[in-house]
Amino acid sequence: MRTFQWSAFGSMVVSAVALTPKELIAAPRRSEAVPNPSGEVALFSTSEYSWETHATSSWWSLLDLKTGKITQLTNDSNVSELIWSGSSDSGLLYINGTNAEIPGGVEIWASDTSSFSKSAYKAASLPAPLSGLKTAITKSGDINFLVYGESYANGTAYNENLAATPLSSARIYDSIYTRHWDYWLTTRFNAIFSGTLHRKRAGQGAATSYTSSGSLKNLVAGVKNLESPSPPFGDSSDYDISPNGKWVTFKSKAPELPRANNTASYIYLAPHDGSKKAVAINGPDSPGTPKDIKGDSSSPVFSPDGRRIAYLQMEDVAYESDRRTVYIYTVESKETIRTLAKDWDRSPSALKWTSDGKNLVLNTEDYARSRLFLLPANAGDDFKPKNFTDGGAVAAYYSLPNGEFLVSGSAIWSSRTIYTAKPGKGVTGLIFSANTVDPALRSLSSSDISEFYYKGNWTDIQSWIIYPPNFDKSKKYPLLYYIHGGPQGAWADSWSTRWNYKVFADQGYVVVAPNPTGSTGFGDELTDAIANNWGSYPYDDLVKGWEYVRDNFDFIDTDRGVAAGASYGGFMVNWIQGNPLGRKFKALVSHDGTFVADAKISTEELWFIEHDFNGTFWDNRENYRRWDPSAPEHILQFDTPQLIIHSEKDYRLSVAEGLSLFNVLQERGVPSRFLTFPDENHWVINKENSLVWHQQVLGWLNHYSGSNGSVSLDDTVVPVVDYNP
Ligand SMILES: *[C@@H]1O[C@H](CO)[C@@H](O)[C@H](O)[C@H]1NC(C)=O
Ligand SMILES: *[C@@H]1O[C@H](CO)[C@@H](O)[C@H](O)[C@H]1NC(C)=O
Ligand SMILES: *[C@@H]1O[C@H](CO)[C@@H](O)[C@H](O)[C@H]1NC(C)=O
Ligand SMILES: *[C@@H]1O[C@H](CO)[C@@H](O)[C@H](O)[C@H]1NC(C)=O
Ligand SMILES: *[C@@H]1O[C@H](CO)[C@@H](O)[C@H](O)[C@H]1NC(C)=O
Ligand SMILES: *[C@@H]1O[C@H](CO)[C@@H](O)[C@H](O)[C@H]1NC(C)=O
Ligand SMILES: *[C@@H]1O[C@H](CO)[C@@H](O)[C@H](O)[C@H]1NC(C)=O
Ligand SMILES: *[C@@H]1O[C@H](CO)[C@@H](O)[C@H](O)[C@H]1NC(C)=O
Ligand SMILES: *[C@@H]1O[C@H](CO)[C@@H](O)[C@H](O)[C@H]1NC(C)=O
Repeated sequence: MRTFQWSAFGSMVVSAVALTPKELIAAPRRSEAVPNPSGEVALFSTSEYSWETHATSSWWSLLDLKTGKITQLTNDSNVSELIWSGSSDSGLLYINGTNAEIPGGVEIWASDTSSFSKSAYKAASLPAPLSGLKTAITKSGDINFLVYGESYANGTAYNENLAATPLSSARIYDSIYTRHWDYWLTTRFNAIFSGTLHRKRAGQGAATSYTSSGSLKNLVAGVKNLESPSPPFGDSSDYDISPNGKWVTFKSKAPELPRANNTASYIYLAPHDGSKKAVAINGPDSPGTPKDIKGDSSSPVFSPDGRRIAYLQMEDVAYESDRRTVYIYTVESKETIRTLAKDWDRSPSALKWTSDGKNLVLNTEDYARSRLFLLPANAGDDFKPKNFTDGGAVAAYYSLPNGEFLVSGSAIWSSRTIYTAKPGKGVTGLIFSANTVDPALRSLSSSDISEFYYKGNWTDIQSWIIYPPNFDKSKKYPLLYYIHGGPQGAWADSWSTRWNYKVFADQGYVVVAPNPTGSTGFGDELTDAIANNWGSYPYDDLVKGWEYVRDNFDFIDTDRGVAAGASYGGFMVNWIQGNPLGRKFKALVSHDGTFVADAKISTEELWFIEHDFNGTFWDNRENYRRWDPSAPEHILQFDTPQLIIHSEKDYRLSVAEGLSLFNVLQERGVPSRFLTFPDENHWVINKENSLVWHQQVLGWLNHYSGSNGSVSLDDTVVPVVDYNP
């Protein structure tokens, strides 16, 4: 048996050409690959940005899983979502983003891979911009489907094009959650709608075709305060349809609790035809609910025989980063829901059944990667699942008829990898990797990165190292210290279009990206130790990491070092600015970080601060104030040039935080700049904004570190407002 070398994905030669921000932003972005029933071909989409037309183009392709050959299926921009219909190996369904009769509505069309546009026909008209198509074929050969979108309070699907414009812009609230992430709450909510495509009785030899009355049932609206998918990030992974099309399962936040100060959510079960109201299977009144398990539920999936639902749940009612455990519920049974591998110190984010229904496959963060693990469906609580993938980060996976899984992932050196892996065996074959195809990524490889462990404050800490082009360890490169957000999060071996390690390294730095106290994927102890310790252990872990780099890597120049971080990483940069570590850097960048300790109460997800500062704002105020970057004794130490970025639609952490810090730095005479986007949230997504973000961040760091990187502050065409005398 040939053993597969993960490193064989790359060319083992450190990249020779720099990856620029423009190339990163414009480079193809590919979706996950979804195999057809026989596992011969997989479907995926690609989108690409053009700096000439300033527009994104996108298309759908088929990937031959044997040969790796890619053929374009369609680039019609009306095809907004494309799935296998399941009725044959070539049958497709798609959401057509326009509707011939209803402005703002969409249509479901059916087609075939063999002659995409020739065989396409309309199967259903939907009255609103619905998406997230999931289907199952019923006994009679019909296709039961699910889609989701916004719903009016009365259960009707919301269509912006047909909605009346209110006369006043006022918003009025009587309950917490006024706004969330980047939107203000309204009386509308996310809902799952069900419908049926009826198989037409065709004459002998005629192809199967489908038609629909277009009538939809809102499966969520029947119970007050249910909402699914859960905003802001919920999508079709929040619901599933049983293989026979009869049942639907979905997650919703607990309807009986205030939304903003707890994380409780339940898994619901409802008949697809909407004949009965949705019922919680693990709610406080459900017969099988395990004792004292009250946290966030997620990822419900039906077993292949439709008789069981596997899902994940956290224990704590107000801790968003608590460990997720696997549960199995038997449909319409009153037995207590079973836990699997409860003692396993990992927190899976997705699960799937193997096609024989005997095992589950879990995707979980694991030592700064994300890996697939096999878990028998009858495992006890002491079972320790084994991984069968290794490097990179798994994004999606589908079971193939031969018992393998088709995995879509990414790595620091590739925006998309597609490969097969088999439980008990490991990676069995590479089918696609973007760095071997995309010109801008062509010089990237697994040898652009390495990792090390060092002694932190109270435990060993892992860190990535990312090398610049033509890296030569006899030379010296300025340090770029990368500080991650969360704080419950991790720098992983994955691709990012916002904090891409290679784009930063390729400006002439060695990027060091440590995973200090608070980081996820190394077990609960490291993650949970962040509570009430925002500025203590992690700060000391970062100091010790910096000293380790200074003492152990001759090729890293810490005298010309710079540091950058966002969100919690932004807070940490602000904290570093007013502490001794701040004096070790030539420049700092903080993106959306808190500054004034007391301002944390203006956030939306109150459970987050009430967990991390162990109590309410009034009972435990000293916890909130303990690590306050705005305390006078810290402000008096501010001395390192700092770029502050904070955008207006960041409702997690209001823009006032960035403005407050800028006022102080300017009055203290510390070189500083404020960058803001009126239309961006906690992240900068728009491609043109992303370019400016990169120019300013990299330009700032290059200017003060004296690095010879190609990006400069002057690259930005937006005028700088400066009334300094
Ligand atoms: C679609 O692809 C065809 C053939 O490659 C090309 O001529 C056409 O310009 C593309 N259309 C769009 C909208 O990208
Ligand atoms: C999408 O459909 C609309 C409505 O038929 C049509 O006007 C438009 O040209 C279509 N777009 C493309 C790219 O074909
Ligand atoms: C999308 O729907 C519109 C309106 O029915 C139709 O004109 C167009 O041909 C459809 N396009 C595709 C790709 O299905
Ligand atoms: C639900 O409310 C919307 C907005 O007020 C309205 O347009 C729609 O007709 C209502 N639907 C029903 C079934 O009453
Ligand atoms: C959450 O908020 C509600 C009011 O919306 C309040 O009754 C409850 O005590 C709060 N919970 C905590 C833990 O503060
Ligand atoms: C599982 O992960 C370990 C690292 O913990 C790795 O060494 C091993 O190769 C992985 N197993 C497979 C089959 O990929
Ligand atoms: C760990 O960090 C704490 C809080 O900053 C500090 O008091 C302590 O001395 C550190 N321990 C070690 C071993 O450095
Ligand atoms: C958090 O608060 C609880 C109850 O007030 C207390 O028992 C616990 O020790 C506190 N934990 C920390 C880390 O302060
Ligand atoms: C940039 O600096 C690095 C490290 O000192 C050096 O190897 C490289 O040749 C320099 N590049 C240019 C274009 O000066």
